[in-house]
Amino acid sequence: MAAAPSDGEGSADIDTGRPHPARVYDWFLGGAHHFPADAEFGTRIVALDPTAKYGARHNRWFMQRATRHLAGAAGVRQFLDIGSGIPTEPNLHRVAQDIAPEARVVYVDHDPLVRVHAAGLLSGTGAGATAFVEADARDPELILERAAEVLDFARPVALSLIAVTHFLTDEDGAHAIVARLLDALAPGSHLVLSQLSGDEETAWVGEAVDRYTTGGVTLVPRTRAQTERFFTGCALLAPGLVQPPDWRPGLGVGEVRDGTLVPLHAGVGRKE
Ligand SMILES: C[S@@+](CC[C@H](N)C(=O)[O-])C[C@H]1O[C@@H](n2cnc3c(N)ncnc32)[C@H](O)[C@@H]1O
Repeated sequence: MAAAPSDGEGSADIDTGRPHPARVYDWFLGGAHHFPADAEFGTRIVALDPTAKYGARHNRWFMQRATRHLAGAAGVRQFLDIGSGIPTEPNLHRVAQDIAPEARVVYVDHDPLVRVHAAGLLSGTGAGATAFVEADARDPELILERAAEVLDFARPVALSLIAVTHFLTDEDGAHAIVARLLDALAPGSHLVLSQLSGDEETAWVGEAVDRYTTGGVTLVPRTRAQTERFFTGCALLAPGLVQPPDWRPGLGVGEVRDGTLVPLHAGVGRKE
């Protein structure tokens, strides 16, 4: 379903005529905040990668299970979610604040459409805090500065980069960006990350990647080893880097997986 432009969705800085990652992802998830160009593009991607919608749903459930673990057993009370996406219930703050109402959450995205919907992200608990920062992940200094208005970096923070690093190229300095962000975090902080796989068994993803490039969006699949490098300085929690449905399915969120291969590496690491 195409979005009815509302609440500024049609505002000048939002180009609705070409597909955009946040809106295509919304289409994959069955949301309502996308435009015909996004739906057409998503349809073409699904023709090349029939797992795209399945993978998006499992990626979202991975976020929920990781957040449950962090707000629960790990006792984390601060969250920095970069590349947060168009709000999709339940959003990260809802999951965290259901467990710990005092949790403080900062969302970051560079898509102005996400800003337009930020109200949906900001309806947190009175006890905690939720904020939205429009910024580009390639500017970690700005993100850290703005996030510090809400988060106390002397205490542990869960940094989420879920299905985002594949939009950061090596020329952007993807690994250096993540390292800079982690460097600002206190010991006991966590990194939650999922990234498009570039491993041999998911080579079929290449055609979809080419389609994204044609659509004006650069996607960078990465091998397991390249993805694991994002966690430098962190100890990966069990079960390590796995497909999203295999990350602690026992936490009871999401459908049990079928045999479909989800071409994403997902993991949670604890900064030492
Ligand atoms: C596939 S969606 C993932 C949304 C959410 N993290 C999730 O996993 O459900 C990717 C999001 O990253 C955002 N994004 C892509 N490149 C970015 C960048 N350079 N800076 C900030 N956000 C970015 C997009 O706007 C989009 O909302």
